[in-house]
Amino acid sequence: MTRLTLSTASPTTAKADAVVIAALQGPDGPVADDASFAAAIEAAALAGATGKPGSVTTIPGAGLVTADRIVVVGIGKAPEGTSTEASDAELRERVRKAAGAASRAVAGHSKVVSTLSAIDLTAAAEGHLLGAYVFDTYKKPGKEPVESVVLTVGSAAKAAKDTLARAVVAAEGVAFARSLINSAPNDLYPAEFARRATAAAEAAGLSVEVLDEKALAKAGYGGILGVGAGSTRPPRLVRVSYSPAKPAAKVALVGKGITFDSGGISIKPGAKMDQMTSDMSGAAAVVATVVAAAKLGLPVAVTAYAALAENLPSGSAYRPGDVLRHYGGVDAKGKSTGTGKTVHVLNTDAEGRLVLADAIVRACEDDPDYLLEVSTLTGAQVVALGKRTMGVMGTPELRDRVAELGRHTGEGGWAMPLPEHLRDGLDSPLADLQNIAGDPGGGMLVAGQYLATFVADGVQWAHLDIAGPSFNDAKPYGYTGSGGTGVPVRTLLAVLADVAK
Ligand code: BES
Ligand code: MN
Ligand code: ZN
Repeated sequence: MTRLTLSTASPTTAKADAVVIAALQGPDGPVADDASFAAAIEAAALAGATGKPGSVTTIPGAGLVTADRIVVVGIGKAPEGTSTEASDAELRERVRKAAGAASRAVAGHSKVVSTLSAIDLTAAAEGHLLGAYVFDTYKKPGKEPVESVVLTVGSAAKAAKDTLARAVVAAEGVAFARSLINSAPNDLYPAEFARRATAAAEAAGLSVEVLDEKALAKAGYGGILGVGAGSTRPPRLVRVSYSPAKPAAKVALVGKGITFDSGGISIKPGAKMDQMTSDMSGAAAVVATVVAAAKLGLPVAVTAYAALAENLPSGSAYRPGDVLRHYGGVDAKGKSTGTGKTVHVLNTDAEGRLVLADAIVRACEDDPDYLLEVSTLTGAQVVALGKRTMGVMGTPELRDRVAELGRHTGEGGWAMPLPEHLRDGLDSPLADLQNIAGDPGGGMLVAGQYLATFVADGVQWAHLDIAGPSFNDAKPYGYTGSGGTGVPVRTLLAVLADVAK
């Protein structure tokens, strides 16, 4: 990763490849956010700078600063009126995006000074790191990511250092999730995901338990086993646990980890099927989050579950018409009690809810105060909310809190209802449930209702459908490159920090 340091020295006289400065979008052109750069912004205006969010203009530094060049990034219109939590968050997100765009513009350079940190240190640090992220496992990038960014700050005392350290941990978490998502499905199958999760968790001093296909069968994880049956690469359930002394609360995280979703026998159309390599984004996010929570030393107990399977059609695959039995608990010998709910599979492409139901029941055995479940669950989420806003469902208070924190972190989120009548559509004449409703309307909410059935009474829970936000199949923007985005790692960390209060 790009190295970040703090400096109180003047950015105008710093020796560097570039200085990054912010331009506000004024009525008559760009306006310097910091008056000492007024001349630089004037010069940049002649070169086309506008101050518009997302805009980047590079001009020579000669005569203006000691550095070789000046990179002017737009942060939009100056905030008006009294600031609110939401307007502060919006400005921070513009700074984060500007820092990300600046990092991409200075790729190939070794030392850059950024003044965006003078506006907001956390946002600048996260934006610079995430904008500089590249996934180079399969191909060298045209230009290497910027080696080091010096962040201008008023004081480099302990408080600033701590703020920077926290931002680095969050960005490392997002980058870890992104890299898992960006790994091709031939390389990242359930056992390999489990291996990488274990390595990261153990390096952070966490305890890990991995159930392989034999252990899953003994304990009766019929949903995970059914979905994974068509692949030669068997499923796994990973449990990563962080338990600090005297935790303020117990939080369970559950993530969908379909390492590839072909749809199974109910096979998907070919177009964009390759993107189903990202169907393990929820699992990646929860594992990255528990590791980051430990590195931050958050005073909450966190246990993350990754429900891992590969959904493929084959002679051994589960089929439409099959009845599976979900996990329902084990006896003293660890054998299935056989009391889990049964499900009539009507569509093998509605597989996420099947692996998640098992994992949710298991997670509830730990008696959590809160359960946050994350999944690329439905195409209906993308239809309803688009590519940059996750749908959040669950118990009203936690649901609203998660959606709001999603917006505050810039990851985006909106609360969605779980109408009672949509649960009725999942009643089956043959089994306790069927995995799809007859009516395709409200598909995101129907899936949420399926999951709700498995959450233990008294647990506050939220379901985050990240089908769109998890993966950027378009050009890079802000601090988001193409491919895995790492959403909602920063939201989950914000929720954990909030719960810790
Ligand atoms: N993984 C998909 C959902 C998805 C779609 C994620 C697009 C990201 C982008 C999920 O397993 C799925 O196939 N859902 C079906 C459910 C349907 C059969 C009820 C869907 O959305 O079509
Ligand atoms: Mn599917
Ligand atoms: Zn899926």
